[in-house]
Order: sequence, then C-alpha cells, then structure tokens
Amino acid sequence: MSLITFAASPLVITPTVRSFTFTPPHRRSNHTVMSAVRSETTSTCPVLTKFQNDCATPTPFLREVANALADDMQAGLAVHGGGDLEMILTYVDALPSGKEEGLFYALDLGGTNFRVRSVQLGGEEERVVATKSEQLSIPQKLMIGTSEELFGFIASKLADFVAKEEPGRFRLEQGRKREIGFTFSFPVHQTSIDSGTLIKWTKGFNVSGMEGKNVVACLNEAMEEHGLDMRVSALVNDGVGTLAGARYWDKDVMAGVILGTGTNACYVEQKNAIPKLQNKSSSGTTIINTEWGGFSKCLPRTIFDQEMDKESLNPGEHLYEKMISGMYLGEIVRRVLLHMFKAGELFGQSVPVKLCTPFAIKSQDLCKMQEDNTDDLSSVGSILYNIFEVEADLKARRRVVEVCDTVVKRGGRLAGAGIVAILERIERETKRLTSGQRTVVAMDGALYERYPQYRQYMQDALVELLGDDLARHVHIKHTKDVSGLGAALLAATNSIY
Ligand code: BGC
Repeated sequence: MSLITFAASPLVITPTVRSFTFTPPHRRSNHTVMSAVRSETTSTCPVLTKFQNDCATPTPFLREVANALADDMQAGLAVHGGGDLEMILTYVDALPSGKEEGLFYALDLGGTNFRVRSVQLGGEEERVVATKSEQLSIPQKLMIGTSEELFGFIASKLADFVAKEEPGRFRLEQGRKREIGFTFSFPVHQTSIDSGTLIKWTKGFNVSGMEGKNVVACLNEAMEEHGLDMRVSALVNDGVGTLAGARYWDKDVMAGVILGTGTNACYVEQKNAIPKLQNKSSSGTTIINTEWGGFSKCLPRTIFDQEMDKESLNPGEHLYEKMISGMYLGEIVRRVLLHMFKAGELFGQSVPVKLCTPFAIKSQDLCKMQEDNTDDLSSVGSILYNIFEVEADLKARRRVVEVCDTVVKRGGRLAGAGIVAILERIERETKRLTSGQRTVVAMDGALYERYPQYRQYMQDALVELLGDDLARHVHIKHTKDVSGLGAALLAATNSIY
C-alpha cells in the first residue's frame, strides 16, 4: 500500500556536506547538480535509442519497484527464504548509547580494501578519545583463493597493527582480552551476535570452500596461528556498522545504506513485526540486514545486464546490486558501447581491442565524463583514448556520455526506490514521517560520495515517490567510514566483561 502521493520536487546538495535535506522549490540554486547529457537526436542510433527506452524508470514504474521490494521484505521477515531479500536477523538489539567505555577494535573486510581500527571510548562525556586506523588493499588473488590465505593475510596485518600500538593513547584494562567488532560485508546467516555462516560471496570475491562456514571461526583460527589473543565480540555487516556508528552521534538514524562497490540496506525493525523471530513474545527493536542486492523482481534488465550477469562470478544472483552499485555501472556501459560499435554507431571501422576487456572502464571514469563541461568534450575524448585507445569525434563523445547517463540515471533512480521502500517500512510501524519527525538514513559508499549525478537521480526518485510533505523530514546523511566505529561500538555493547 502506498503511503504517499507522487510529486516532483527539487533538492539542493551543499558542496561541503554530501547529505541532503528537502528545500522548498524557490530555493533551487545553481548548486543543483544537473546531468551532463547533451541533447542529440538519436534517430540515427537504434542501439542507443532502444537501450534508453529499455532503461526508462518513470515514476509509476519506480512505485512498482518500491512496492515489490516492500513485498519481498515482508516475505523475508515472515519466513526464512520467503522472498528475494534475506532479511537477516543481526542480533543487534541494542544500538550504541554513547556510554560505551574502553579499548575496542574494528576489522573491516568487504570490498577491495581491508581496514583495521582501534578506538578508545571514553563514555558519554568524552566519547571517542583516540582512534587509529590502517587501510590495505586486498591482493586480487586472495579474493579468489583459499580461506586460509585470506584470513591468514587479515590476521597477520592485524598482528602488525596491534604491535605498533601506542600504550599512552590506547589503554586495555588489565585482565581483558582485546575485543573486535568484525565487519564482514557479505551475506551471512547470523547465528548469534558473534557468529555466522557465509551464505554466498558477492562483489568479485569467490574464496573456495567457505560457503556455509562460520566466518568468525575462520578468523579465530588464523588469529591463533599468528599468536593473537583477541576475541570477536560482534560480527556485523557494513550496513549495520554504518547504522550503529551514525546512531552514536544522532538518535534519529533509523537506517544504514551502502552505495559503493556493492550495495545494501539495514534498518531498525520492531521485533513484534517479525513473524520468523523465534521468541514471539519479544518486544523492542532489532536491526534487520535486508541484503537488498538480491532483489530481482520487475527490474528493467536489458540484454547487456543479462549477459554481464551470465558471465559474472555469481550468475543469477544479486541482480539489483548489478544494476545500482559501483562495481557494475562501468561494465554495463562498456557492453553497450561495444554493441554500438558493432552496429556502426561508434568509433569507425577498426575494432578497439580494449573495448573487449571486461571491467576496463570504472564508475569513476563515467563520472569524470559526465562532468566534462567543455564544448568539445575534451576530457571525454582523452578518457576514451586512455582507456580504449580510440579516437572519438564529437558525435561519438556525445553518444558515450548519453550511454553513461542512461546507466547512471537508471541506477540512481532504482536506488532511490529502494530507500523509499525502507522508509515506508519504518513508517508503517513508527509513523515518524507522518508525525513530522526527522528521520535519518546514514549513507556510506564511494558511489554515493563521489558521483553527483547518481546522487541527484537517487534523490529525485526519492522525492517523486515519497512526496514533498514526507520527504522534507528525510535526511540522507553521508557518514563516511563510520562502519568501523559502529563495529567497535557493537563490540563494546556486546563485551563479555
Ligand atoms: C553484500 C552486502 C554488503 C554490500 C555492501 C553486498 O554485495 O551482499 O552484505 O553489505 O555488498 O558492501
């Protein structure tokens, strides 16, 4: 059931804080990020024209997507495996209060990087007294190697990090083990706050033999081998970490959304609205990890999406993620460009060999091209030359920008529909928006952070679906890298001491 009416409304992005709040129409300003698409008649470009039509996401269609997502959320809450969305019970029933004290650690594994952080918490008055972090990139071969290699690497880096700790700034209470909040950003069937088994890999990871294994046990084994006497007190998803870390500073945070290499959304749910929860008498709230990347209904999938999916490491899975997240946008564009080349719509006669290389172009390249404001699209020309070694004339450059815009617009608008489904779910139980209560969605991920056009499309869709009156109470707050703090805080909340 729809809670809202459709209405388009403008938003303003302030350049410093990449968050948005509703702004009344007359204040629409130059800050508003506009699409860099230049109009060109596409009648001579049948492949492009068809692609644009197939990718269209008018408001009524987005409403269908939001409703289908809401149905799948309900089905997943009713029974395990009830819908596309896992709706994972995270065992996070208590969010940080601000009173947490002591030294805690966060390990973050989820994309191309691995991060380790120490946080000295000083309670309500002092909050975060000291924090230190290190980031390392995960060697590609470890992403598709064995679990011993992957967790051995993590444990050795953790051991190096702890060995360098400055005792003056970080103080572990006597008799205590070092406790870790482990952010593991893949679908995990959580069995308690500190254990869970991997459901499947996503985002280009495919470590052998791990599906169905307890990821905390894998880390424990590796830590033992490296002589590390540490304990995982909380196993959390990055969306949960983002929600928890943001809630530490802002009590109105009700959801955590990730729009980066991969995507996900987690939110605060009433326990008595979760039929699959075993303890039926429970009251209060808990955090649900939706794993919305797995959504697959009524999506505008083109032949390019289908082929990319077929050749991916996880065919048939995470179809929504493959349309809206940073890992895939460039690859969809590449496939369309290749098809346009074959149809004689781009780049002349000789095959640009690099155009055949999967994942040659990244979402950050698309963004740079969309931001080219020069008359001759000179950066578009040089980006195409650098990546694909092609000389593109102005007509070709314009067409390429149109393809980028089509993919990014579809992705951003579908992500907006997803956020609306989450907000409406929260609204069902809390009536926050209808009663005018500020409701914050904590947002993290490089795609949201660094792609203004994507952000704008997402925000437009959100307001179109929610309507001005409700949208004015929604705040999308960019909370960069807060999931590490959130994981450390959840380790504190679930400390064994
Ligand atoms: C994973 C989620 C994760 C998201 C963002 C997805 O591929 O399934 O668990 O939260 O990426 O990192």
